Amino acid sequence: MSERGNAQPAVLLDHVSKTFEKRKVLEDVSFQVGSGEAFGLLGRSGAGKSVTLKLIIGLLKPDQGKILVLGQEMQTLARDKLGEVRKKIGFLFQDAALFDSISVYENVAFPLRRHTGKSDAEIKDIVQQRLDDVGLSKEGRKMPSELSGGMRKRAGLARALALEPEVVLVDEPSSGLDHITAGEIYDLLLEMKQKRHVTLIAVTHDVAGARKFADKFAVLNRGRIVECGSFQELEESDDPVVRNLAAGAET
Ligand SMILES: Nc1ncnc2c1ncn2[C@@H]1O[C@H](COP(=O)(O)OP(=O)(O)OP(=O)(O)O)[C@@H](O)[C@H]1O
Ligand SMILES: [Mg+2]
Repeated sequence: MSERGNAQPAVLLDHVSKTFEKRKVLEDVSFQVGSGEAFGLLGRSGAGKSVTLKLIIGLLKPDQGKILVLGQEMQTLARDKLGEVRKKIGFLFQDAALFDSISVYENVAFPLRRHTGKSDAEIKDIVQQRLDDVGLSKEGRKMPSELSGGMRKRAGLARALALEPEVVLVDEPSSGLDHITAGEIYDLLLEMKQKRHVTLIAVTHDVAGARKFADKFAVLNRGRIVECGSFQELEESDDPVVRNLAAGAET
């Protein structure tokens, strides 16, 4: 874990293990993501990708090992301090997890109302900006049930970005979307990285898509990191699972 030794990583997992009941879901997982880096976490269904993101944001606690986000050790923080760090993390859940009973506008406004003292006018400007960013400027009044799958993902992303987080975690940003809509989501992620310099961790099994925005990858297989590095390093991996995954991305 020594490359790019100078700056503190934005996210660091150090020998993390997690067991549910008797089932070991993550075993000795270590990786780090530098500030402003875009990181693709790859792996098959059930590999432990979503659990990894939930550990990073502190929704789950590791049984062993430690997790640092922006220099803070998540599992040892008191509730209020944890809240402070979480405000700097945007999370797009696998199913977008919008609040179904409030409008798209209110979904994006929610974190701003909850975590800032901003006025309604200020919130209005920010929400409109976020909706513009994701191409939903005219859909604010709609209810989540009136959106397509791709629009839900984009609305979820607008909400994840509401507080201008330093770290953005996205879980399967393109699953269930057609090729073109998925491409638009990838472009958005790339733009976010380039314009806002956020640190991005994206979970996906779409390797071809992840190549469009990620600088670095880790492959999880049955709860273990089996490779970590550039796409070329995945292609040249000794592990056939990793090579197959990379080969599948060639189009
Ligand atoms: N809260 C939980 N309680 C018990 N088991 C869980 C819990 N969350 C996840 N698991 C188990 O951990 C394993 C990894 O789950 P995870 O959701 O991280 O997979 P994933 O890599 O995100 O898969 P997918 O690509 O299908 O989303 C699965 O076997 C799952 O059943
Ligand atoms: Mg998942």
